[in-house]
Amino acid sequence: MTSKTKAQIVVQIKNLVKIFSDEKEREHCVLPGISLNVFEGTFLTIVGPSGSGKTTLLNIIAGLEEKTSGTVKIGGGADGSQLAYVFQSARLLPWLTVEENLRFVKPENTTEESFKEKIHHYLSLVELNDVTRHYPHQLSGGMQQRVGIARALCIEPAVLLMDEPFSHLDEITAEQMRVELLRIWEDTKQTIIFITHDMQEAVTLGDRLIMFNFRGEIAEDLAVDLHRPRKFSDRSFIEFYAQSVERFQNIRKKE
Ligand SMILES: Nc1ncnc2c1ncn2[C@@H]1O[C@H](COP(=O)(O)OP(=O)(O)OP(=O)(O)O)[C@@H](O)[C@H]1O
Ligand SMILES: [Mg+2]
Repeated sequence: MTSKTKAQIVVQIKNLVKIFSDEKEREHCVLPGISLNVFEGTFLTIVGPSGSGKTTLLNIIAGLEEKTSGTVKIGGGADGSQLAYVFQSARLLPWLTVEENLRFVKPENTTEESFKEKIHHYLSLVELNDVTRHYPHQLSGGMQQRVGIARALCIEPAVLLMDEPFSHLDEITAEQMRVELLRIWEDTKQTIIFITHDMQEAVTLGDRLIMFNFRGEIAEDLAVDLHRPRKFSDRSFIEFYAQSVERFQNIRKKE
C-alpha cells in the first residue's frame, strides 16, 4: 500500500462560458469563462449576488443547461448518473406518492429491495416516514422540500448539487437539516456543491467557500479551516464569518 492517496478531482470545469440570448437576440454573458476543480469529498459552498450565475452553473454541471463553451468533466469522465440535484423547490411529481417519488429515481443497477431500504432510511432521516403514502399536495412546502432532499440522498450520488435547499424551511427545521446533512457527508464523504445566500450557513457547512461577483466570476476562493462541529459562538467561527461578510461586501462595492 502506498501512503495516502491523493484526492481525486470529481468536478473539473475549464473556461466555462454561458451566454443567454433573449427573444431580441441580445446576448447576456452569465458565466464569463470560469475554471474550478472540486476534489472528492469536498463540501463546497458558493455565495454570490442574485443573478450572478450560481444556479446556471449547477444546471450546466447537472446537464440541464447547455454551456456556450468550455469543458465540464464529472468524476473523470463518468456520466451524470453520479449526480443528484436538490433544487430551490422540491419539484415532486404530483401524481405520485412520497414513496413513489423516491422509487422513481431508482438507479438501474440497484435492486428494488435494497432501494426500498434506502428510501425508508432517508425518509426517516428527514422525519417523513409516516407520510410515505401521501401525495405532494397533502404536504407543507417544507415537508415537500424534505422529500426532495431524501430523493437526492437515496441515490447516494458521488456529487450532490444543492441550490439553496433549506431557504424555504423554517429556521429550526433548516438547522436540523444542516446537522443531518453534515452527518451524512461525514459518513459518506460525498462531494457536495451547495449554493446559499446565507453566509452563516456557508461558513457552517463548507470546507471551501467560493464567492461570485455580479459578472459571474469567482472573486474569492477560501479554505474554511475551522474545526467541527462549528458553533456560531466560537471565536474562530465569528472571526472567519466576519471576514467573509467583509470580503463579500467588498466584492459588491467593486461592481
Ligand atoms: N433560461 C434563461 N434564459 C435567459 N436568461 C437566463 C436564463 N436562466 C437564467 N438567466 C439569466 O442568467 C442570470 C443568472 O441567473 P441564475 O439563475 O444563474 O442566477 P443566480 O446566481 O442563481 O441568482 P439567485 O441568487 O437569484 O438564485 C440572470 O440574469 C438570469 O436572468
Ligand atoms: Mg439561483
